[in-house]
Amino acid sequence: MDLRLAGHGALVTGSSSGIGTAIAETLAGEGCDILVHGRNAAAAAAVAERVTLRGVRSEVVLGDLTEPGVAEQVALTARDFGARILVNNAGPFAEHDWDSARPADWRAAFEGNVLPTVRVTQTLLPSLRAHGWGRVITIGSRAVRTPLPRMVTYSAAKAAVVNMTTSLARHLAGTGVTANCVSPGVISTPSLHRMFEERAAAADGPADEADEADEADEMGVTDARDVTESGGGRGPVTRSGAPVRSGPGPVEAELVAAYAPNPTGRLGRPQDIAVAVAYLASPLAGYVNGIELRVDGGITGTP
Ligand SMILES: NC(=O)c1ccc[n+]([C@@H]2O[C@H](COP(=O)([O-])OP(=O)(O)OC[C@H]3O[C@@H](n4cnc5c(N)ncnc54)[C@H](OP(=O)(O)O)[C@@H]3O)[C@@H](O)[C@H]2O)c1
Repeated sequence: MDLRLAGHGALVTGSSSGIGTAIAETLAGEGCDILVHGRNAAAAAAVAERVTLRGVRSEVVLGDLTEPGVAEQVALTARDFGARILVNNAGPFAEHDWDSARPADWRAAFEGNVLPTVRVTQTLLPSLRAHGWGRVITIGSRAVRTPLPRMVTYSAAKAAVVNMTTSLARHLAGTGVTANCVSPGVISTPSLHRMFEERAAAADGPADEADEADEADEMGVTDARDVTESGGGRGPVTRSGAPVRSGPGPVEAELVAAYAPNPTGRLGRPQDIAVAVAYLASPLAGYVNGIELRVDGGITGTP
């Protein structure tokens, strides 16, 4: 199917890594010019270089979206680039439960996930409205519907992002600009690998055996030290160095069963999210507005 995206311009925030990279490459494959964004200059440049191999234009804009004025500057660069598609993808997650989360942690979750979405969107919107066509797609999370007990600040911030999508879609009535949200399940990306690495390190620390058992139980993995991240960012590996296979191999199957049970029976891949975003970004999705599209293997609602 031709998604009729050729010639459109897109800003994908946080496209120097993970899901954002997959979105950038998928949109480029459909003929979109891509403004790659991130903080890591080398990683962003590498993505832009790969994108241009698909015969489209690509530029890089760098900046920490939590720093004053940066989100607005990124949006203005996107306006000048001709971006009519905005993918609000950057959104850090951190682990805090109700006992450990301090006000600063709540603030960081909202400053990382909510305010950049607001600032980039608000700054880019006038040019989308003037053009009479545009797409705002924001990345939510499965944590929106089922708050994660160890990620309460992140879950709340992501819930806000979905709520904002509904109000934005209504606000944009009749403008030709739609606003939608894609909520991923558990996706194999550097962030997720880092989280498991940190859990494994915590389990390796000075904690006593009972603490480690609690940690593993809570994590839902029989041995929390079984999974870590490869140093080169190539994906998760077992402690013995064997890669976690992309299919549901033994370690992934264990992770899925214990941490992310879903009827599809595997972890998500960045590409699973990217194709959903490409559809919502396309002119073909003009009658889809204000939705939260869950791309989570069915994990939401799975006991
Ligand atoms: N992975 C999952 O299982 C999962 C599940 C549900 C939702 N999500 C959501 O999906 C989105 C992408 O996650 P991911 O797993 O692909 O993460 P990732 O691999 O760590 O990539 C995060 C991207 O966001 C950028 N970024 C992070 N904080 C930033 C900041 N303050 N300013 C500017 N850029 C920033 C990073 O830039 P640099 O690397 O250049 O610093 C990177 O490009 C996030 O919104 C996340 O919450 C992920």
